[in-house]
Amino acid sequence: MEHFKEQLALILEEPTGLGREEIQPLLEVPPNVDLGDYAFPCFRLARAFKQPPAEIAARLAGELGENPLLERVTSAGPYLNFVLKRSVLAADILSRIRQEGQAYGSSSRGGGRAVVIDFSSPNIAKPFGVGHLRSTVIGHSLHRIYTFLGYRAVGINHLGDWGTQFGKIITAYKRWGSKGQLNRDPIGHLFQLYVRFHEEGEKNPRLDDEGRYWFKKLEEGNRETLDLWQTFRDLSLREFKRIYQILGIDFDSYQGESFYNDRLDSTIEEIVNKGITRESQGALIVDLGEDIPPCLLRKSDGATLYVTRDLSAAFYRYETYRFAKALYVVGADQILHFKQFFKVLELMGLEWADRCRHVPFGLVRFKDGKMSTRKGKVVLLEEVLNKAVQLSLDIIGEKNPSLADKERVARQVGIGAVIFGDLSNDRIKDVEFDWEKILDFSGETGPYIQYSHARICSILRREAPSQTAPLQGEAYTAKEEEALLLQLGRFPEAVERAADLNKPSVIARYLVDLARDFNQFYHHCPVLKAQGDIKQARLLLADAVRRVLAQGLYLLGIEAPEEM
Ligand code: ARG
Repeated sequence: MEHFKEQLALILEEPTGLGREEIQPLLEVPPNVDLGDYAFPCFRLARAFKQPPAEIAARLAGELGENPLLERVTSAGPYLNFVLKRSVLAADILSRIRQEGQAYGSSSRGGGRAVVIDFSSPNIAKPFGVGHLRSTVIGHSLHRIYTFLGYRAVGINHLGDWGTQFGKIITAYKRWGSKGQLNRDPIGHLFQLYVRFHEEGEKNPRLDDEGRYWFKKLEEGNRETLDLWQTFRDLSLREFKRIYQILGIDFDSYQGESFYNDRLDSTIEEIVNKGITRESQGALIVDLGEDIPPCLLRKSDGATLYVTRDLSAAFYRYETYRFAKALYVVGADQILHFKQFFKVLELMGLEWADRCRHVPFGLVRFKDGKMSTRKGKVVLLEEVLNKAVQLSLDIIGEKNPSLADKERVARQVGIGAVIFGDLSNDRIKDVEFDWEKILDFSGETGPYIQYSHARICSILRREAPSQTAPLQGEAYTAKEEEALLLQLGRFPEAVERAADLNKPSVIARYLVDLARDFNQFYHHCPVLKAQGDIKQARLLLADAVRRVLAQGLYLLGIEAPEEM
């Protein structure tokens, strides 16, 4: 609520003798809402007034008289605390939501600068597991949040489509593969082959040599081997895209690791030219100091590595997008990789090195034993999503059997529940996946937020507020109304904070609080049964909540059905 700060700064100019540009950044939000909406610390005035800050605060509180903006001004120690007039605040927040609609909470602070977000990035020929779900939903939400704040977000799927494992898969396919099975269930078949390679490899050490041989062929550009790899890639990507479609996600680029193959020589040369590399037993490494193990750029057999391709991709992305930030939404198990990778950029003296950020997250654990990971078996995301939709359909069938288009709503609710179940946790923590918890319509869940939204839609279907009538800030007198209005006013801050911390969970928590405040309000303040101005005011408030809930869900990548 920056413009309130502007107005407060104006009020404070005369009594403090400071300019408004000096005052505005000093205004803070007190840690405890009971203290007031804004606080001004008087430390800065002590020298000019030759008085202790607390005395200045007490004196100024007495001197600042009536003001149409302010309910009251008090002092607490060295702080001057302001309580804005509720009616002014209410009218202000509601008029902004009414005018800006879905754009409420957005800003232009990004100024069109690029934020490159590397997310999802699954490995070809391997099942898309729930582990990759986290990266996918966090990255997608960050993409929407940054876009909302005026950045040019670029979503990149850095597919794991290159590396020594492809030599292994090709070996296994040549020995035991079946074209029919490959076409029927490409990822399932390729993963089976991969597991079998490792099982048989324990008995037969020659397999590893064979794997290296085929990877070398691949790197040399051998036609037949490349064709096979291309088939594996195409089939896998087709499967991944099916999942992205279920989730409603798309990428600006699918340039995976293989895209950088013909750039790796020049990438290595660029690093060598900085004089930070050395040979060690035939391999090329960069020493990264005492605390971080050296970074291996090229093995003694000439093979490059995951990190080499990441370095190449970073150069390419900087050249292409001139990014203000480059985010890597990748599990916390790769913290060391990103430390090494970023350290190399830093040692190279690149001015943009510190614009790169690892956005790590914890593991997903399953509470339901049946879905837990077994040896050689991964929990498939698609199974999880299907089950979520099925369970939602059961719940809807029970709660609202006459609902039209149940299937579509069940998809929105089931998928929303999985996404919200993930995003409502601080990303760095491990998540426990518990079916009952994520689908609980009255818990801190996606369905609870969606249900609150649908409930408002149903109220407004019966009577819509006038969108042109003047806003009556004085009509809101109940404490539930006040709490709800203030919470609406905090939405823009929640969005900014989510971006600053790269944590969609900030918005998820915000929505839980907003939905709860709404339900409190609705419980205590009749809407459709109220009369005249009061009714109009409450309808408008409900409408504003509806918009913010829908927009908040959108920023998380979740749909907001109007009925459920
Ligand atoms: N494919 C990798 C994995 O599944 C993740 C890649 C993340 N992105 C990156 N630029 N390293 O573990």
